[in-house]
Amino acid sequence: MTIIDGKAISGQVKQEIAAEVAQIVAAGGKRPHLAAILVGHDGGSETYVANKVKACEECGFKSTLIRYEDDVTEEELLDKVRQLNADDDVDGFIVQLPLPKHISEQKVIETIDYRKDVDGFHPINVGRMSIGLPCYISATPNGILELLRRYNIETQGKKCVILGRSNIVGKPMAMLMMQKAWPGDATVTVCHSHSKNLVQECKEADIIIAAMGQPNFVKADMVKDGAVIVDVGTTRVPDASKKSGFKLTGDVKFDEVAPKCSFITPVPGGVGPMTIVSLMKNTLLAGKKAIYK
Ligand code: GUN
Repeated sequence: MTIIDGKAISGQVKQEIAAEVAQIVAAGGKRPHLAAILVGHDGGSETYVANKVKACEECGFKSTLIRYEDDVTEEELLDKVRQLNADDDVDGFIVQLPLPKHISEQKVIETIDYRKDVDGFHPINVGRMSIGLPCYISATPNGILELLRRYNIETQGKKCVILGRSNIVGKPMAMLMMQKAWPGDATVTVCHSHSKNLVQECKEADIIIAAMGQPNFVKADMVKDGAVIVDVGTTRVPDASKKSGFKLTGDVKFDEVAPKCSFITPVPGGVGPMTIVSLMKNTLLAGKKAIYK
């Protein structure tokens, strides 16, 4: 059994990006610039955005953080998005989700110029991804692909069960795992809250990608010997023994499932660190105008 070390791989990828940025800048090129919009003070979002800014520094990128209070109007936010679309110095930008209820996330996403949509959330990027065209691929699915690649994990012809059908993880992951490519070429099943035979599907899976946000849902008796387990769960479960007051908990009961697996990602330290690195990779592509001119 191999524990997939997302932290180590993410460190390697950041070093690779930093080396390429140093070359670009030494050759007189432009330093990639990522902007992030953060609305309000949600604890999770604050942490994610702070980590994104820190990763930009590690990669040698310029970063700009734009903050609004919870009561920002939709029009104010959309105006800022349009301003960033038009700003030639900004190569790519993100609007951290979730947004307050009075703002339409979909409207915001669709107002972002798809050529700067390094989150890969715009319908043009989602559509292009689904038919295998060059695009920005959203961070979590792309981070998982990178882990499968770096650990040389075979996916062709394998039965891959995805738990969860979110627009950010489950749906794009399903598209990517069925793509004519490696990683990909898998037989994909997506299970969700209305699936009737979820446990049986899991028992037959060569690869399980758990992204439903239910702590410790996947148990040892749901997993076949030698399976590959990717745990996307990051639920904050209260834990008085932690300084933060919570324990980041995955969708997989790691201690009992791990001994049965060929490969497994831990939480934390598996998929999580790769998500931010994927955003950095997209920002580098944006800086190089590698996908869209
Ligand atoms: N909220 C949770 N994950 C993400 C992400 O990948 N991008 C953005 N913009 N918001 C998020």
